[in-house]
Amino acid sequence: MRGMWSSVLTLWLIGGAISTSEITLPLSVKFGHGLVTFSEETNGVFYTISEEDKPTIRSTFVTDESSWAKSDQEYSVTDCTTDEEACLIFVVNDVTLVLTREVSSRVGYTHASLNATSDNTTVGTCLELVDGVDWFGGPEQWTQIWPVQNDQWNYTAYYTKEDDAVAIAEPYWVSSEGTYLYANPATSLFIDQNHLHDGFLCLYAQNVSPYRARNYTSLEYWIGRYDDPKTAHEAAVEKFFTKPTDIPDEQMIALPIWSTWARYKVNVNDSIVREYAQEILDNGFNHSQVEIDDYWETCYGSLTFNTSDSKFPDIKNLTDDLHDLGFRVTLWIHPFINVECDEWYAIAESAGYFVKDESGNMLTTWWRGENASLIDFTNEDAVTWFSARLTALKESAGIDSFKFDAGEASWAPEPAVLTGNIEESPGILTYQYTRAVAAFGTAIEVRTGWQTQDLPIFVRMLDKETSWTIDNGLPTLITTLLAMNLAGYGFVLPDMVGGNGYINSSSTLTEYPSKELFIRWLQANTFMPSIQYSFVPWDYDNETVEICRTYTDLHEEYAPTIIEAMNALVANGTPVNPPVWWLDPKNSEAFNISDEYLLGEVILVAPVIEEGAVTRDIFLPSGTWRDASYSPYQTYEGPTWIYNYPAPLEILPYFVEASYWEELGKDTTSETTSGGFTLSSSPTVLCASVILALTTKLFN
Ligand SMILES: *[C@@H]1O[C@H](CO)[C@@H](O)[C@H](O)[C@H]1NC(C)=O
Ligand SMILES: *[C@@H]1O[C@H](CO)[C@@H](O)[C@H](O)[C@H]1NC(C)=O
Ligand SMILES: *[C@@H]1O[C@H](CO)[C@@H](O)[C@H](O)[C@H]1NC(C)=O
Ligand SMILES: *[C@@H]1O[C@H](CO)[C@@H](O)[C@H](O)[C@H]1NC(C)=O
Ligand SMILES: *[C@@H]1O[C@H](CO)[C@@H](O)[C@H](O)[C@H]1NC(C)=O
Ligand SMILES: *[C@@H]1O[C@H](CO)[C@@H](O)[C@H](O)[C@H]1NC(C)=O
Ligand SMILES: *[C@@H]1O[C@H](CO)[C@@H](O)[C@H](O)[C@H]1NC(C)=O
Ligand SMILES: *[C@@H]1O[C@H](CO)[C@@H](O)[C@H](O)[C@H]1NC(C)=O
Ligand SMILES: *[C@@H]1O[C@H](CO)[C@@H](O)[C@H](O)[C@H]1NC(C)=O
Ligand SMILES: *[C@@H]1O[C@H](CO)[C@@H](O)[C@H](O)[C@H]1NC(C)=O
Ligand SMILES: *[C@@H]1O[C@H](CO)[C@@H](O)[C@H](O)[C@H]1NC(C)=O
Ligand SMILES: *[C@@H]1O[C@H](CO)[C@@H](O)[C@H](O)[C@H]1NC(C)=O
Repeated sequence: MRGMWSSVLTLWLIGGAISTSEITLPLSVKFGHGLVTFSEETNGVFYTISEEDKPTIRSTFVTDESSWAKSDQEYSVTDCTTDEEACLIFVVNDVTLVLTREVSSRVGYTHASLNATSDNTTVGTCLELVDGVDWFGGPEQWTQIWPVQNDQWNYTAYYTKEDDAVAIAEPYWVSSEGTYLYANPATSLFIDQNHLHDGFLCLYAQNVSPYRARNYTSLEYWIGRYDDPKTAHEAAVEKFFTKPTDIPDEQMIALPIWSTWARYKVNVNDSIVREYAQEILDNGFNHSQVEIDDYWETCYGSLTFNTSDSKFPDIKNLTDDLHDLGFRVTLWIHPFINVECDEWYAIAESAGYFVKDESGNMLTTWWRGENASLIDFTNEDAVTWFSARLTALKESAGIDSFKFDAGEASWAPEPAVLTGNIEESPGILTYQYTRAVAAFGTAIEVRTGWQTQDLPIFVRMLDKETSWTIDNGLPTLITTLLAMNLAGYGFVLPDMVGGNGYINSSSTLTEYPSKELFIRWLQANTFMPSIQYSFVPWDYDNETVEICRTYTDLHEEYAPTIIEAMNALVANGTPVNPPVWWLDPKNSEAFNISDEYLLGEVILVAPVIEEGAVTRDIFLPSGTWRDASYSPYQTYEGPTWIYNYPAPLEILPYFVEASYWEELGKDTTSETTSGGFTLSSSPTVLCASVILALTTKLFN
């Protein structure tokens, strides 16, 4: 067919309409301030958006799972430009691509809609990951690298799921060049990256499970072009994300949460909770709450305390006593009912409160239930039933708030038949679950999100491994923080200090973090929105206790700064803990920094996250920075690198922006001198023994 048109037709589209006809590529069409060029290459049809002063974005079409649009196709192009919008319709066989963008604006977004009329075509677009350009964003995941252009995704459904620890899946990426990619979340979305097509990030729409069938296939996305990643992100937040309506509970921000989970696993009971609370007090640590984790129920889903002598014989007496000791008490809750929990299972089953798949099956599996069902949070009656039982429990047991676990859509039997717009299925399950539980107030926590950035609640990072590796270990405390912030979730609750100590995913066996890993973990966590302990400092030695007290207190001291940063998220969508490039968005050296983070725009944190390391290199972005770890507090002008910064086990390197430092009323007189170090008046620990060694290191 292609052979019928021998000449290459290049059209310059300037306001006037061009006729719809079959054409031969390449084809260049004026488009706002730039050009769209369609071209046939050996492996398919590409379209390139180029602007006068911006780098080029090259994408291609996909019309089935494995191949790009091939060249033996018919094409047509139609101008649909109006006074305000540059507009172009490109048709290849039964797939239509409509591109529109504002005519007047140099920067802005291009809206793309890729539709196939049949319900069994896969449509997709692949964006080229050009060498030298860093990309950020994508999902929360197990191996959370930063930046993300080297991620590998093997054609996988993009939704909240247990696989790969994808508890947050917002279809959003932004590049170091100031380009963003955002897909309509109400899509049967799949992604593939560096797999079917090496060097490309591909988004697809396909009507297969876990999605419900629709009678068309459509992928809608936006490509934003801005001057740098910061302005691109700000524009994306404004256009696509909802800002939080408020900030979460302030006690959970300032004072540590103490969870029974990592230390005790499922062996929790009345005496253990009492001992735990007493140890916290005896060791002089503050607390926002003690959290009773798994396993307290008679059976999973009963929402009823097991009152046997070896469990919780009198929960109200326990919570009363804990309240008298000054603790709030929170409780672990999950959205399942196990089949063996028959009394409650029967009620929910007969009322139709469980999620079913298209064949009516309602059985599913989770980590504490081989045969279980999931409550359907898209069913209003089910929510009412669940919430009423929880409210009753809260009152009768004297519970202050809850930790809500799970919530990823993948726990449902698939494809799940849910109430609501079919286009939003199954993400709507996560959406409605988090909304239903958010009704229990700002002191709750969830661990999943889908279009729920507006909720004023903590979102916990998925369970971390007790390890030093990028496979969900300590380095990912920072990269997950950055990824969640970029997805619009700034109220991040880091997972437990030191990780969960899992051995082979067992719910009873525990491997303690080493002293070094435990301390470095807490340090890395210090300027994040909340601290959650489970393993305790006093299980190590006095030095660990002292160092942990210091950083727990330092976190509390900076709680007002955390709250300011959270208020900036509420007001402007500014990340609470942005990546370093946020303050230096045109500096290529800033982009791939994955072991530092900011608190608001005023504190830079550079924790040691490498086993055995006692120094590290630190990149300081643009700005004037006071080194807050050592007194006298040296001043640095960024952007700059500090090489081999000394950071023995008791030191967390962090820097405070100079004018904020003054605002805080910190020492401003002890500018760089050649004198020795003195112990700082800030709560930084610096053992006398290391001072001499450091003096030499710093001034040589
Ligand atoms: C693509 O499909 C969606 C969903 O049916 C529809 O809303 C949209 O108008 C379609 N776009 C085009 C260009 O056909
Ligand atoms: C896809 O749908 C078209 C018509 O809607 C049909 O002719 C074709 O056989 C279908 N292909 C597959 C693989 O189901
Ligand atoms: C993804 O595909 C590649 C081959 O392209 C394979 O080597 C790799 O193991 C796959 N990864 C997963 C998680 O399946
Ligand atoms: C597609 O489904 C919608 C509702 O699910 C219906 O209103 C519409 O008529 C259907 N379109 C076609 C072409 O079958
Ligand atoms: C927390 O503990 C520190 C001592 O480690 C103390 O100075 C501070 O007042 C405590 N804060 C609260 C709110 O109890
Ligand atoms: C309560 O817990 C005990 C100890 O784990 C267990 O033996 C018992 O079966 C549980 N009781 C109920 C009602 O589930
Ligand atoms: C509570 O659990 C611990 C650890 O499993 C156990 O040693 C203790 O006996 C239990 N307490 C009671 C009252 O059974
Ligand atoms: C809890 O029970 C113990 C033992 O019966 C009792 O001494 C204590 O006063 C009770 N606590 C409260 C707050 O009632
Ligand atoms: C789950 O159900 C299957 C099939 O009925 C059964 O073989 C298995 O023993 C059940 N597992 C548990 C833990 O009850
Ligand atoms: C964990 O699993 C590995 C591999 O199956 C096994 O060799 C090891 O003994 C297990 N560890 C424990 C503590 O069960
Ligand atoms: C910790 O210090 C206390 C006194 O402050 C002392 O009694 C205790 O033996 C020390 N513990 C260790 C493990 O050194
Ligand atoms: C970061 O990028 C710079 C170039 O800007 C490169 O030299 C460096 O190796 C990269 N670092 C990492 C960790 O990828």
